[in-house]
Amino acid sequence: MQKNTVSQVAIITGAGQGLGLAIAENFLLEGKRVVFVDVNEQLLNEVKTSELVSQYASSKTMFIAMDVSNVNAIKESVQTIVEHWGRIDILINNAGVRKETSVEDITEEEWNLILSVNLGGTFFYSQAVLDTMKRQKSGRIINISSFGGQAGPLSSGAHYCASKAGQLVLTKSFARSLAGQGITVNAVAPAAIQTPEMDTIEPVKLEKMRESIPVQRFGEAEEVASMVSYLASDAAGYITGSTFDINGGLFMR
Ligand SMILES: NC(=O)c1ccc[n+]([C@@H]2O[C@H](COP(=O)([O-])OP(=O)(O)OC[C@H]3O[C@@H](n4cnc5c(N)ncnc54)[C@H](O)[C@@H]3O)[C@@H](O)[C@H]2O)c1
Repeated sequence: MQKNTVSQVAIITGAGQGLGLAIAENFLLEGKRVVFVDVNEQLLNEVKTSELVSQYASSKTMFIAMDVSNVNAIKESVQTIVEHWGRIDILINNAGVRKETSVEDITEEEWNLILSVNLGGTFFYSQAVLDTMKRQKSGRIINISSFGGQAGPLSSGAHYCASKAGQLVLTKSFARSLAGQGITVNAVAPAAIQTPEMDTIEPVKLEKMRESIPVQRFGEAEEVASMVSYLASDAAGYITGSTFDINGGLFMR
């Protein structure tokens, strides 16, 4: 197994809160250089000044306010990162938008929003880092999909579930085409993890959901972040095209 000795550069989309922030913080603690990407500039500012992140010098962190559904913005961000740090080792496609709209009520506008952020963002960010990762002959891409992309809606709309299922196929497509070049591509499929997004679900629905989870509790963001850290590590070099379920037993296959 080849060991990486440089301080790795990791991009995390949707790093302003929730799972993305937990993943980014873990990477910082592991000594990686971290690029926090989020569409919400206010959240990024809060992260920048937070107790943990503010301890790290600007030589370890970079903050980019941008929308991952904007392909030009993705290309520009990759160019900025490569000019600044000269490499990209890890990409975490985590930014996501979830809506619960019924199939009858999904509009074209809402369909396009969900698909362009969750699926388009994943595809175009992955595509944009390829040149750099191929040049390095190493890289890790990890897509944050969902239980909804495997089993269908629990508390999310058909558009969200379709975008999350699409991420799983993209994972296999990129994994197969890059396997010989030192780049692995994997997905995690969480369900019911305690993040700010979960607070948007009605309390009654939330309690029903909790009761249906075999381990009888919601997951913690750190539990997803630990799996992502493992998949990003040198130790996971023989794993590609895989999806790891983190759902308290809600969906077993
Ligand atoms: N929390 C869960 O239980 C759960 C379960 C399954 C899958 N997921 C997936 O995990 C990921 C993170 O979920 P979370 O619960 O932390 O969500 P969250 O809503 O708490 O955080 C998502 C972050 O993404 C950012 N974001 C949204 N649209 C963006 C865009 N266009 N460009 C850049 N950034 C954008 C938001 O500003 C926010 O900071 C999502 O992809 C979600 O679908 C979460």
